[in-house]
Amino acid sequence: MSSAPYIPDNAPFTPAQRAWLNGFLAGMWSQAPAQPATAVASRDVAVLYASQTGTSERLAKKIAKELKLKGHTARVASLEGYEPVALAKEECALILASTYGEGDPPDAARPFFDRLCNPAAPRLEKLSYSVLALGDKHYEHFCKFGVDLDERLSALGATRMAAAVTCDVDVDEPFEAWKADLLARLAQSSSSNGTAPASAAKEAAPVAASTYHRDNPFLAELKEKRVLTQDVSSKLTLHMGFSLEGSDLSYDAGDALGVIAKNDPALVADILQCAGLSGDEKVELPKTGPRSILDALSQDLQITRLSRKLVDGFAKAGNVSVLLGLLVPEQQTHLDRYMYDRGVIDLLTEYPGVIAGAQQLVDLLPKLAPRLYSISSSPKAHAGEVHATVAVVRYRSHNRERGGVCSTMFADRTEIGARLPVYIQQNKKFRLPADTNAPVIMIGPGTGIAPFRGFLHERCAVGAKGRNWLFFGERSSATDYLYREELERMSACGVLTRLDTAFSRDQAHKIYVQDRMIEFGAELYAWLQQGASVYVCGDASRMAKDVDLALHKVIEKHGGRDEEGAKEYVQDLHDSKRYHRDVY
Ligand SMILES: Cc1cc2nc3c(=O)[nH]c(=O)nc-3n(C[C@H](O)[C@H](O)[C@H](O)COP(=O)(O)OP(=O)(O)OC[C@H]3O[C@@H](n4cnc5c(N)ncnc54)[C@H](O)[C@@H]3O)c2cc1C
Ligand SMILES: NC(=O)c1ccc[n+]([C@@H]2O[C@H](COP(=O)([O-])OP(=O)(O)OC[C@H]3O[C@@H](n4cnc5c(N)ncnc54)[C@H](OP(=O)(O)O)[C@@H]3O)[C@@H](O)[C@H]2O)c1
Ligand SMILES: Cc1cc2nc3c(=O)[nH]c(=O)nc-3n(C[C@H](O)[C@H](O)[C@H](O)COP(=O)(O)O)c2cc1C
Repeated sequence: MSSAPYIPDNAPFTPAQRAWLNGFLAGMWSQAPAQPATAVASRDVAVLYASQTGTSERLAKKIAKELKLKGHTARVASLEGYEPVALAKEECALILASTYGEGDPPDAARPFFDRLCNPAAPRLEKLSYSVLALGDKHYEHFCKFGVDLDERLSALGATRMAAAVTCDVDVDEPFEAWKADLLARLAQSSSSNGTAPASAAKEAAPVAASTYHRDNPFLAELKEKRVLTQDVSSKLTLHMGFSLEGSDLSYDAGDALGVIAKNDPALVADILQCAGLSGDEKVELPKTGPRSILDALSQDLQITRLSRKLVDGFAKAGNVSVLLGLLVPEQQTHLDRYMYDRGVIDLLTEYPGVIAGAQQLVDLLPKLAPRLYSISSSPKAHAGEVHATVAVVRYRSHNRERGGVCSTMFADRTEIGARLPVYIQQNKKFRLPADTNAPVIMIGPGTGIAPFRGFLHERCAVGAKGRNWLFFGERSSATDYLYREELERMSACGVLTRLDTAFSRDQAHKIYVQDRMIEFGAELYAWLQQGASVYVCGDASRMAKDVDLALHKVIEKHGGRDEEGAKEYVQDLHDSKRYHRDVY
């Protein structure tokens, strides 16, 4: 079959529109009567991904599978440990890159990108490529890493096969369009020599595929629900234990549990009422097909948060001048402030009459994404079970009590015996050292303790001899000391070699985990010198950065190094896979 037509790059469309149109043409073409046979154009394609929570990895595997079905050679690899010199030997690469931090690469891809940005990076004249940039419009630096990567590759002489496409959390549609566009372009281009370059990216290790995954979650029974904080605490943190019995799901300590959440029925009812809808109106959703607006708002759509796209669609639909004013680029800060503590319900109450029908409302709303929780159990110690440690998000704003979708579903609407749709999200970069004698240092304030509870149970279950040091922090020791008895037991029996706590609100001035790291810096540095691996889990916005800074300071002070020397030391920790972060 000859190849599909596609929209040229100089046609007056945005990259996303062009990708969509090319995808559409490719779809039409594939349904057209067979064309006279010509030689199948086969290309050797490196499918590379930079992922933290697995989305771009999942999509990379998906596109690789389709490339193979079309007769191409496709090799999937993470950018973790990948070298620019290997890229320079490639002729064709499709790169899926998600953004973290302040527009940064995922931790695992940082060394690759640093090397690529080095003036000594190799030229990439041989390479044709395209980038799918994954991100979330709630963040200030939307898809920045993917966009920066795209620009850097071009600056190094590589040729764009198609402009970078950015995706919001609702990745499926832009991904399908990008994929169809690239498949059409690859079919157009003639075969290369077809042999893999010497430094070919290694195929990712095959993962034992489970019947259950994000698109086909397992209904896991809730067996245990325990409040970890005391009644008088200023927060509510829960321990949730699910049974995996009846499924073929398995996990390793360090993986995450994906949960398909449902919205609060009371909020859904308020939204329907404000929009003048009964709930029975039929609506169409991509993929799910026709359903009632009640079901769509309950299960499929994100209703608690606002995004620029949503405000833009709403403002244009109702010609709302106040909102249109906030949408001009100079007003970004004011728009952010407006969106920060409001949801769809606020748009509907502040500007009544804009929504004229159920489908119009549905078309404005993004898909409700699954929520991830670092698993707090070990499969070796808790066979057939998976545990999560959940901080419940509640706050009041604009005269409304509000809550996080999934965490309040756990707190308020899920009782023992309930079955919830879950799946396992692998997190291969967050694993205990293979050498069970190696020491580990774990830094996990708040719910950041979750994977470390799993790690400690795992080390205990396998009889690991390596020393374990945990830094834990919370607001108050009397009310928020998560898993206190368990940790104390582990200390008493010697599994937990050291336990240092930082209760931020037990004294007039704040004490955080990083203050303890500094306080015990000499010992911390000694552990590092003895080969300890460092793990950090919890809040990404401030904690992870402050802990990273403290680690540098400890190395400067106790390792007798200057700032540059400490950076190199930490880079070596990264490179030797002894510094791992799981932050959110
Ligand atoms: C890899 C990974 C691991 C994770 N592990 C854990 C874990 O072990 N335990 C855990 O509890 N969470 C964990 N999380 C976070 C978790 O996935 C959810 O994001 C969290 O539970 C909130 O989800 P929700 O649906 O309850 O809230 P959402 O409906 O997503 O609402 C949260 C949003 O509400 C808004 N908001 C919250 N507080 C306020 C406020 N005071 N004022 C205004 N707006 C506010 C913010 O926009 C915030 O983004 C992890 C996340 C990732 C990516
Ligand atoms: N909306 C909400 O109601 C709400 C409530 C809690 C958490 N969250 C969010 O939920 C996520 C997880 O929360 P969590 O329950 O695991 O706990 P957390 O909010 O991360 O707090 C755990 C401990 O970390 C301390 N902390 C605050 N800033 C820090 C920093 N820069 N460095 C080190 N420690 C710091 C906190 O102290 P202090 O709090 O005393 O400063 C507290 O003692 C976080 O992303 C957080 O932003 C939201
Ligand atoms: C802690 C955290 C920080 C993030 N920071 C950004 C950001 O700065 N810009 C952005 O566009 N997306 C950001 N995102 C969204 C992710 O890039 C997006 O969810 C992506 O689909 C994740 O892909 P992955 O699963 O392959 O890691 C962030 C997500 C998390 C959890």
